[in-house]
Amino acid sequence: MTQLFPGEVFANTADFDTGIRQMLPRYDEMLDAITRCLPITTNRILELGCGTGELSLKVLSRCPSAEVVAVDYSPRMLQFAQQKIQAAGYTDRWTGIEIDFGDWANNSAAVEIGTGFDACVSSLAIHHLQDEMKLKLFQRISESLTPQGWFWNADPILPESPALAEVYQSVREDWTAQQGTTLAKIRSCLGTSSTQGHSSHDQLATLSGHLQMLTKAGFHVVAVPWKYYGLAVFGGSITDIL
Ligand SMILES: C[S@@+](CC[C@H](N)C(=O)[O-])C[C@H]1O[C@@H](n2cnc3c(N)ncnc32)[C@H](O)[C@@H]1O
Repeated sequence: MTQLFPGEVFANTADFDTGIRQMLPRYDEMLDAITRCLPITTNRILELGCGTGELSLKVLSRCPSAEVVAVDYSPRMLQFAQQKIQAAGYTDRWTGIEIDFGDWANNSAAVEIGTGFDACVSSLAIHHLQDEMKLKLFQRISESLTPQGWFWNADPILPESPALAEVYQSVREDWTAQQGTTLAKIRSCLGTSSTQGHSSHDQLATLSGHLQMLTKAGFHVVAVPWKYYGLAVFGGSITDIL
């Protein structure tokens, strides 16, 4: 099996956009929930773990004046995203940066991303960090937002009980069957990954655990605008009055 960075998922990067939609229920709806929570006047947006650029494309389409700084540690994913951004005509409004967002969480001065973002978004990436690093990252994000800024993250969550783990798994299996395939078939297109930088195989936290981390990291408004079984969009703002 091809050796990948955690989060690259598919052995062939070109399989990602189709495969992720077969593997995860309501992927587009989940990313759309993030973009809907961004005011359309949002200007500077930081994206963590941009992958093949699907969330970047949705954000750039929703927010016509937005410029996106998109971070990923995988050169393969960044290159793939760059090509799609170019094809969509967004090159002037998108900058891809190859870094590990865990390094940024640990020391923002050592990693040049900038600050004063109106929003930070992420999907299916932060769950690769251990909880201690998730908290550090949430703290770094809260310090890097403008006072009116928003952070929205989509990630799988740790099932709250063994029974719910079975429910969440059966929902995924039903979803893939509805797409005309099986999880076993999709798994045959996956690569294997070991630890890379700060990320390793899934390090899931419960939804309530995430919300506690956000509060501890300085977010005053904490919300869950979307949830579907084992997937959730959560985040918030550092300012109370919005
Ligand atoms: C499952 S993909 C999701 C991509 C995209 N956000 C989406 O929803 O389609 C996760 C991405 O996060 C990146 N990633 C994981 N850990 C990272 C880290 N510590 N620093 C930077 N990128 C990371 C992976 O390279 C991969 O591109």
